[in-house]
Amino acid sequence: RGILYMKREHWGSQLAFVLAAAGSAVGLGNIWKFPYLAGKNGGGAFLLLYVLCLIIVGLPLMLVEILIGRTAQKNVVSSFREIKPKSPWFLVGFIGLLAGFLILSFYSVVAGWSLEFLYQTAAGTYWFDDTISEQVRNDKVAAIFGNFISDYHRPLMWHCVFMTLCIVVVACGVKNGIEFWSKILMPMLFGLVLILIARVYFLEGSGGGYSFLFSVNWKAIWNPKVVLDAMGQAFFSLSLGMGAMITYGSYLDPERSLPRSAVFVVIADTAVALLAGLAIFPAVFAFNLEPSAGPGLVFSTLPIVFTKMAGGRIFGTLFFASLLIAALTSAISLLEVVVAYFNEEYKMGRVKTTVVLAIIIGLFGIPSALSFVAPSAACPLGMSQMKIPFPGGAKTFFDLVDHMASNLCLPLGGLLMCIFVGWSWGKDKVMKSASQGAEWFATHPLGTIWFNLVRFVAPLIVTLVFIYSFKIISFTNEGTLVFFKGWF
Ligand code: PHE
Repeated sequence: RGILYMKREHWGSQLAFVLAAAGSAVGLGNIWKFPYLAGKNGGGAFLLLYVLCLIIVGLPLMLVEILIGRTAQKNVVSSFREIKPKSPWFLVGFIGLLAGFLILSFYSVVAGWSLEFLYQTAAGTYWFDDTISEQVRNDKVAAIFGNFISDYHRPLMWHCVFMTLCIVVVACGVKNGIEFWSKILMPMLFGLVLILIARVYFLEGSGGGYSFLFSVNWKAIWNPKVVLDAMGQAFFSLSLGMGAMITYGSYLDPERSLPRSAVFVVIADTAVALLAGLAIFPAVFAFNLEPSAGPGLVFSTLPIVFTKMAGGRIFGTLFFASLLIAALTSAISLLEVVVAYFNEEYKMGRVKTTVVLAIIIGLFGIPSALSFVAPSAACPLGMSQMKIPFPGGAKTFFDLVDHMASNLCLPLGGLLMCIFVGWSWGKDKVMKSASQGAEWFATHPLGTIWFNLVRFVAPLIVTLVFIYSFKIISFTNEGTLVFFKGWF
């Protein structure tokens, strides 16, 4: 009656959805975080546990999220309202919005680091001439990262540049923005990583890297700390617990097969994490560097590798380009979760919503960028010395935001989503909706297994992770159990 209904945008094909969802999943978590966690936690042991977590919790929850979105065809908050009207479940959506907001704010800062290294590597700024000794050269290269993040101009500049890239993609909409770019960038990312793996394979002495990644130290496996690291990483890496997959699922036509898409996305994400490991560790071993350098592995150890490798400048540039692409396709999914909500609920135009929200999130990211800067006359706002008290130990602003989002909001959101689907929505309705487009799923044992994992196993495991991340229980390096460490 005179009302113009805007038709909800949909992905052009099942492949488009899978690429976009894989784009969300494959990110800094895969190329930056997975290798350093594996490096820190003993390589193969971590890998094995990680894959277990993916199968038991990651994959089932991936299906849960896509299912909620596809069924409701709404943004993350209204999806819950649509399926269970007049219930408080929509609050889960707000946890998701909060998580999206928080994660994007610091994610963009780290993505900015990859822009800096893309620039420095392409420009060849850290190839020092060999009048100085090799050790001194290595130290100088390794110091670049620390010097860069402890200044404020460039990190803030790149943070702005990166947020602008996100705005450009998301403002163009689901089909012309997210789908268009995912279809170009994701295949490119795979190609680049494969080129890097091939290059590294031919380095002399790279063999140690493969055995590091694939040989399992069984003693390391029994360390609960490693188990829980693996679990947290599975959540973050698959973009679960905050409704990114609900939002992307809501742009799916109802007749598409869900179980298959979920499996593809999980495989793609795991493949890239593995491939990143295969590109990084052999190179690190070939030049006798440390695989356990932690968060600096990619930004201070790898540049040393590039300076020593024939063609290092080209391959280094390709590497940081991959990192940037991975970060961008994830960041747009974070932004889309928030944009979809405000766009639909408050009827603000997409472009305006995107710009306004990205600016607010970008501003909130500034203290994260300043968390590595020492206060000085030039930058009194440097926050490296400011530690915010928190149960389990005081944290910098950057760490606090990361911790709140990755260790509080994501597991809590994931837990509630499992309870929603496993206990509240109704088994018959769930199975009916899940098997739309995949009739076999309703009666197949895999369907039953999935439902029971969601109902019993996943909530239990996530609750454990949760208790752990708040140090209600924790473990020493030797694996001894401690309660409320650092709380009082
Ligand atoms: N999965 C992304 C990564 O691995 C991060 C992310 C988390 C993106 C949650 C969206 C939602 O880097």
